Amino acid sequence: MPQKRKLFVKTYGCQMNVYDSERMESALGVSGYEATDTPDDADLILLNTCHIREKAAEKVYSELGRFKPLKADNPDLKIAVAGCVAQAEGEEIIRRQPMVDIVVGPQAYHRLPALEKSARAGEKVIDTDFPEEDKFDHLPRRAARGPRMRRAPTAFLTVQEGCDKFCAFCVVPYTRGMEVSRPPARILAEARDLVERGVVEITLLGQNVNAYHGAGEGGDWSLARLIRELAQVDGLERIRFTTSHPNDMQDDLIAAFGEVDKLMPYLHLPVQSGSDRILKAMNRKHTAESYIRLIERIRAARPDLLLSGDFIVGFPGETEADFQDTMALVETVKYGQAYSFKYSARPGTPAAELDEVSPVDKSDRLARLQALLTAQQRDAQDAMVGRDVSVLFERSGRLEGQLVGKSEYLHAVYANADPSSLGKVVTVRIMESGPNSLAGRVV
Ligand code: 5AD
Ligand code: SF4
Repeated sequence: MPQKRKLFVKTYGCQMNVYDSERMESALGVSGYEATDTPDDADLILLNTCHIREKAAEKVYSELGRFKPLKADNPDLKIAVAGCVAQAEGEEIIRRQPMVDIVVGPQAYHRLPALEKSARAGEKVIDTDFPEEDKFDHLPRRAARGPRMRRAPTAFLTVQEGCDKFCAFCVVPYTRGMEVSRPPARILAEARDLVERGVVEITLLGQNVNAYHGAGEGGDWSLARLIRELAQVDGLERIRFTTSHPNDMQDDLIAAFGEVDKLMPYLHLPVQSGSDRILKAMNRKHTAESYIRLIERIRAARPDLLLSGDFIVGFPGETEADFQDTMALVETVKYGQAYSFKYSARPGTPAAELDEVSPVDKSDRLARLQALLTAQQRDAQDAMVGRDVSVLFERSGRLEGQLVGKSEYLHAVYANADPSSLGKVVTVRIMESGPNSLAGRVV
């Protein structure tokens, strides 16, 4: 047996990139690679990049600079840049960093083994085409074993990619392309396969996951229909999905929160701003009021739902009054968890043409918003004390005898438990609420 070549993968950004990296690892595994945890002994370094905010491309260039000595030591080392920076920058990457051998966009991963071969033959290869076919059909199933590929009890599963919403600040429609849904039959087959390998929780991924409309039996399936069907899979105990857009939150999906036991009571539903003026400028096509009404309807279906969101402060034209509208919305809605960002102009997006809010105002608003969101997050966590939650144990904790897992609300929970509980859903009574996690005891 010839010695296997070593592959080092570094993943930036969203959960979809985590999923994609895993699939690229499998694809290259078939081409004779095995994963390594360090770039030092790698024969192929793959950076799976993110372009969503701030200086993403610059970070990639500086990371690449650090690999220069490795390339000098090992002339056989090949370097690949994948992900949304690859899609956005294309050949510019090789122009600026000639040591890069492969540039591959998110829609071309199934061609990676062929690209690797060409790179080994000494070519520079760039593939940022958008194919018509389902790229996942051409990627091998995930490896069950191997040091980096040990199956955790949780897995991501991409069901939908791309977005047609064109929020004025966002690069996703340009880097990931138009919205495409995978057929339900393929998703169900992949889910069954994951469950056979020990997965008990699946998170369905999509940039606009609730716009899902895969062509299945009897016509297009909604996300709710897909979830109901997945809930029939024996051995699958928990279903989550992310990320959703308020305008695609259909009645059947809202109802599913109340009716499908396996669907976890957690929803990431970004609003971005609480000012109707800014929402309009952002091209969000909803208002603060319509969002608040929507949340009321979802909570009516599932009163214990833990709500998460995304916010942007300092979008061009945002005044202090607009920002106060965002604070007021947060006060009304109450989030259990949230992400908030300073607006960062992305080249090629409509908002990049507009005048920016001053950096001082952006920082100041972000600090105030984050203080409020952190306090709400803390309240939601503290409210768990004394309650019994269900925890899927994922790994051992720092202390002897401890296991860590996630509750149905996605809180990290520590408890003393037998290692045989790993990969199982167990009832835990919450005793304490710490800064970022809960501690409890198995009931
Ligand atoms: N600037 C700041 N935040 C952004 N996001 C997307 N694009 C930008 C940008 N240009 C945030 C949004 C989105 C999340 C994934 O990233 O809040 O929901
Ligand atoms: Fe970007 Fe989300 Fe808006 Fe689509 S809906 S353009 S992914 S922020």
